[in-house]
Amino acid sequence: MRYVVTGSAGFIGHHLCQALLESGVAVDGVDAFTDHYDPSLKRANAARLARYDRYRGVELDLATAEIDDVLTGADAVIHLAAQPGVRPSWADGFPVYVERNVTASQRLLEAARRTRVPRLVLASSSSVYGNATDEPTAEDAPASPFSPYGVTKLAMEHLASAYAENWGLSIVVLRYFTVYGPGQRPDMALHRFIAALAADEPVIIYGDGEQVRDLTYVADAAAAAIAAAAADVPPGTPVFNVAGGSPTTISNVLRIASEHIGRQGTVRHAPEQPGDVRATSGNIDRARRLLGWWPEVPLEEGIKRQVVHQLGEDPRSGL
Ligand code: NAD
Ligand code: UGA
Repeated sequence: MRYVVTGSAGFIGHHLCQALLESGVAVDGVDAFTDHYDPSLKRANAARLARYDRYRGVELDLATAEIDDVLTGADAVIHLAAQPGVRPSWADGFPVYVERNVTASQRLLEAARRTRVPRLVLASSSSVYGNATDEPTAEDAPASPFSPYGVTKLAMEHLASAYAENWGLSIVVLRYFTVYGPGQRPDMALHRFIAALAADEPVIIYGDGEQVRDLTYVADAAAAAIAAAAADVPPGTPVFNVAGGSPTTISNVLRIASEHIGRQGTVRHAPEQPGDVRATSGNIDRARRLLGWWPEVPLEEGIKRQVVHQLGEDPRSGL
C-alpha cells in the first residue's frame, strides 16, 4: 500500500505521515517548504520522517511542478498542502492563498484525474461556514466564509465536486476545526500562548477572549484522514466535519495552559481581528456514522501534551 500525502512536512502532515508509516503504509510526502512560518521547522519534521525506510520525501510546488509521476500507482492521495491561517489572508496576502489553495488544488485534481487516483482526501476547514447560525454546525449548513482564506478553501471544495462529477473521481472532503497538539503551527493561538507564558511576556488575546473554538487534537485529525482514505463512502464528494467535540473559549484555553505551566501570565487585549469568527462547533455525527471516526483525546490532556512537547519534559522546571 502506498499513499501520497501533500503538505507532509507541515503540522498535521507530519503527524499523519508518521501514523501511516507506523501502520505499515509506504508514504510519498510532497512539500514545498513554504515560508508561511519558519521552514526549518518543516525541514526538521521531514528529517524525522526520512528515518523510515518506507518514506520518500518529494520537494515540489503543487502550483507549478509536474506532479503526475508521484501520483501514478498511489492507492490514495491525502491533500493537506495549503496556505493556512485566517488573519493574514486579507490585502496583499491574498494572492498566495489563491495560488496555494486554489491553483495548487486544481493542478492536483487534474493530475489525479489523469493518473486515475482511486481515492483523494482533501483537507478543508471550518472556515467555510463563517459565522454559522446553527451550533453544533452540520455539514449541510450553508457555507458562508467570513475570511478570504475560507473563500479559497470553499473554492477548493467546489473544484473537487466538479472534478468528481465530471471525471468520476472518488473524493472525500474533511472540514478540520482548529487543530492543536505537539508541533502546532507557531502562528496559532495555543502555541503563542505557551511561548509567551514561558518567556514571561504578555499573552495577546484578540477581542474579549470569549470567542469559542472546537479544538481538535492532531492525532485525531490524522486518524480522520486515514479513515477517509479507505472508507466506503456514498458517491458525490461527501464532506465530513472533523472536530474535537468540546467547544470552549480562547480564555479557557489560556487558563488550562497556564495551569499546566504553573504561571498566571499577563494578558494584553488587542482588537478583534477581521475574518475571525465568533464561534466554531462541529457536529460530528456523520464522521462517526460513515467513517467510524470520533475524537479520542480530551482537551485538557491534549493541551498538556502540547505544553510538555513545546517546553520540554517538565514544563514547571527551568522556567
Ligand atoms: P502547515 O502550514 O503546517 O502545513 C501545510 C504544508 O503545506 C506546509 O508544510 C507547506 O510547506 C506545504 N505547502 C503549502 N503550499 C504548497 C504547495 N503549493 N506545494 C507543496 N507544498 C505546499 O498547515 P497545517 O496546520 O498542518 O494545515 C494542513 C491543512 O489542514 C491545510 O490544508 C489547512 O488549510 C487545513 N486546516 C488546518 C487547520 C489547523 O487548525 N491547523 C484547521 C482547518 C484546516
Ligand atoms: C485555525 C487555523 O489556523 C486555520 O488554518 C484553520 O482553517 C481554522 O483553524 C479552522 O478551524 O478552519 P483559528 O481558529 O483562527 O484558525 O486558530 P488560532 O490561530 O488558534 O486562533 C484561535 C482564536 O484565538 C482566534 O479567535 C484568534 O483571533 C485568537 N488568537 C490567536 C488570539 O487571541 N491570540 C493569538 O495570539 C492568536
